[in-house]
Amino acid sequence: MDYILYEQKGQYAVVTINREKALNALNSQVLEELDKTLDAVNLDEVRCLVLTGAGAKSFVAGADIGEMSTLTKAEGEAFGKKGNDVFRKLEVFPIPVIAAINGFALGGGCEIAMSCDIRICSDNAVFGQPEVGLGITPGFGGTQRLARLVGAGMAKQMIYTARNIKAAEAYRIGLVNEVYSAEVDA
Ligand code: CAA
Repeated sequence: MDYILYEQKGQYAVVTINREKALNALNSQVLEELDKTLDAVNLDEVRCLVLTGAGAKSFVAGADIGEMSTLTKAEGEAFGKKGNDVFRKLEVFPIPVIAAINGFALGGGCEIAMSCDIRICSDNAVFGQPEVGLGITPGFGGTQRLARLVGAGMAKQMIYTARNIKAAEAYRIGLVNEVYSAEVDA
């Protein structure tokens, strides 16, 4: 695996999207590796998954814009399905999945976090669905899951305006369960 780290720590395991130079953006390979990683979780031993992004700056800065920009219509549809399928796998995963959100959770990053059961974030987290600025919709389930979490009105405001929000506002509107300091003990 090039882009996914998997570490079992007793009864829980940490899945890290590890593409830090691209702020952990989701390209096809990341999605495929994540899919395989989920299939390989030892459900006899692991009771909970934590999903996070490598580095302090970004959880996931979205789907890979560079890759998407070259896709044909059919390829775009296949890419959308690939993302939706693995996000759905996370959503119905047989054990709890916690998104530990550090820094940017934009576009597909916000969407993958919303596919998890619980979202906790650091106080440097930034959430948003900026897709309309790119001329696309939140195609990895964001239109549905955001509305369920924060209500239709707030979801429409975030999607239509493409405005990013900080951790405190994400907590206020119910997008995240808890906010913690990004500082860790040495
Ligand atoms: N796709 C591909 N590469 C990305 C990326 C993305 N979504 N986000 C960041 N990167 C890359 C940048 O291209 C850059 O690479 P290089 O160093 O090779 O140039 C690297 O990550 C660092 O990014 P920046 O230099 O831009 O860092 P910054 O601190 O100046 O800005 C940012 C950070 C505000 C998050 C900015 O990178 C940004 O706006 N990224 C795009 C966010 C976005 O629009 N996400 C939605 C994508 S569409 C989507 O997700 C569709 C969907 O619903 C499925």
